[in-house]
Amino acid sequence: PRFFEPTGIIVLVGLMGAGKTTIGRRVAARLGLPFVDADHEIERAAGCTIAEIFARHGEPAFRDGERRVIQRLLQGQPMVLATGGGAYLDSRTRKLIREHARSIWLRCPLPVLLRRLAGRTGRPLLAQGDLKTTLTALQAQRHPVYAEADLIVDCGDDSVENSAQRVLEALE
Ligand code: S3P
Repeated sequence: PRFFEPTGIIVLVGLMGAGKTTIGRRVAARLGLPFVDADHEIERAAGCTIAEIFARHGEPAFRDGERRVIQRLLQGQPMVLATGGGAYLDSRTRKLIREHARSIWLRCPLPVLLRRLAGRTGRPLLAQGDLKTTLTALQAQRHPVYAEADLIVDCGDDSVENSAQRVLEALE
């Protein structure tokens, strides 16, 4: 077996449905690091769901809360941190991530995202309109920013195990 050096904080970025949580969990297990899901931490801190935060307070308030939660996590122990798809798009959050962690963009092709997200509820940005149109626009807007991550890993349709393996190889 391989032994990895302490890796600090690893932050996964990328679109909704790219596998940040499932792949992140596996990567963390392989590295022997804790796994933390930023969305989950935000919900815990707020005491309600992300959909409720968007509905009650709007997206800007969500982004502020998201940044505060991520900032706190970035001051902590080594971990694998999955962020919500929009976190890295916020310039202040992105700066914090760049200063305190290694970031990895999990890049995933549109057809795979579409298949995974079809019929899913709970993501306010996908709640209205045609899923393909929305995701295409998000890709166009976000891909250039995700490309600023320290590493890019193509995940696509691969198994969680294979994708996690590729992340580990990219980190070496
Ligand atoms: C968002 C992605 C979601 C969640 C929120 C907004 C986004 O997280 O943070 O609905 O802006 O892309 P996932 O990427 O984990 O779905």
